[in-house]
Amino acid sequence: MLADKDRIFTNLYGLHDPGLAGAMARGQWDGTKALLDNGRDWVVNEVKKSGLRGRGGAGFPTGLKWSFMPKEVGERPHYLVVNADESEPGTCKDREIMRHDPHILLEGCLVACFGMAAHVAYIYIRGEFIREREALQRAIDEAYEARLIGKDNIHGWDCDIYVHHGAGAYICGEETALLESMEGKKGQPRLKPPFPANVGLYGCPTTVNNVESIAVTPEILRRGAGWFASFGRENNTGTKLFCISGHVNAPCTVEEEMSIPFRDLIDKHAGGVRGGWKNLLAVIPGGSSVPCVPADACENLLMDFDALMEVKSGLGTAAVIVMDKSTDIIRAVARLAYFYKHESCGQCTPCREGTGWMWRVLERMARGEAEKREIDMLLDVTYQVEGHTICALGDAAAWPVQGLIRHFRHVIEERIDAYSANPKPMDITALEAAE
Ligand SMILES: Cc1cc2nc3c(=O)[nH]c(=O)nc-3n(C[C@H](O)[C@H](O)[C@H](O)COP(=O)(O)O)c2cc1C
Ligand code: SF4
Repeated sequence: MLADKDRIFTNLYGLHDPGLAGAMARGQWDGTKALLDNGRDWVVNEVKKSGLRGRGGAGFPTGLKWSFMPKEVGERPHYLVVNADESEPGTCKDREIMRHDPHILLEGCLVACFGMAAHVAYIYIRGEFIREREALQRAIDEAYEARLIGKDNIHGWDCDIYVHHGAGAYICGEETALLESMEGKKGQPRLKPPFPANVGLYGCPTTVNNVESIAVTPEILRRGAGWFASFGRENNTGTKLFCISGHVNAPCTVEEEMSIPFRDLIDKHAGGVRGGWKNLLAVIPGGSSVPCVPADACENLLMDFDALMEVKSGLGTAAVIVMDKSTDIIRAVARLAYFYKHESCGQCTPCREGTGWMWRVLERMARGEAEKREIDMLLDVTYQVEGHTICALGDAAAWPVQGLIRHFRHVIEERIDAYSANPKPMDITALEAAE
């Protein structure tokens, strides 16, 4: 287990004071000026050297992303935008940081702004996060009061931080839809390029980072890139918040070492699989957007970007959804398909039409009311959606279906056989009601 001394998030469970006094007692805002005195390049290089990869889902190297910002500020100001939308099903980590440990995020905003020559950070928070927004605002007020941020602050780098709340749309977590939403427009993703580092918020150079990505940076600088890089495997470094839900005995969010074996994570922190390890059916290891991994592949599975890619899944947001053998896996994936259909912004035809099509077919398959040839047809549609859309929501909708067919085709076929042996009249009322 990760030792307490190596934890970055020291108030994840809200057992201590989330306010400034408590945060300082836990070592936050400690020597921040000395860190900045090392210069912008040092900040960016340390983050690069730490190997930190974005914690918002895609795992893009954070330091590298920061280095894409223009080196000098021209006529357009630079912005940092913190993505606190956290709408990926199963993901519940950023909210804990904002509710219980908001100062570490604010300190991270200052450090990141300095590294990218930005004087303004916006934290875009999911609309439903009322308590988190209040906690964050309280911390911001305290930080201004103590002159830790703002104009002429004690750190010598002007930095204003604003909280902006969304209206609760999953797509507004996609970074360019988020920027559109912040500009007061409909939250629909932009075509890239141009990338936000060139043309972002209000047409200015902008970096969008996840809450956790930003919140870990002050500790990386304080303790050194080497310290952070000493956890996990090469290319998969650091400590990481895992959100464990579903059929485990003690669901939780926990900070652990990257690359921890899946089994250790579940047994040591979540009280094991409900009904024992043999009762495991599958796991969705990285939030609803990644393909599931069947139980037999979980035995020696490491929880990091590369290991999960090897089993054709992904670390995503590290939201680990455990499913035991009582799960109707077709129905579970059909429910996820409904989510993506509901959240599609509708700009691209493959996503707008494909998400609804996949959901309707899966609903029939969950009842067995389908033909076996439709399984390959469904798979083919997932490939027509994947990679053919403006943003990754299309991929996110396609991947869970691909995982289902890859690992549980036999379950779909058995369901179809059972239905054709005992067909019932088609009931479309539930389907229509849901639509
Ligand atoms: C549909 C969709 C929803 C997303 N939702 C979130 C989110 O809620 N929070 C987040 O940090 N990133 C989310 N992302 C990823 C962001 O687009 C972006 O990659 C991320 O904020 C970058 O931060 P990072 O580099 O620190 O990971 C989403 C992406 C897509 C396609
Ligand atoms: S992939 Fe879907 S959500 Fe993303 S831009 Fe296209 S229609 Fe909108």
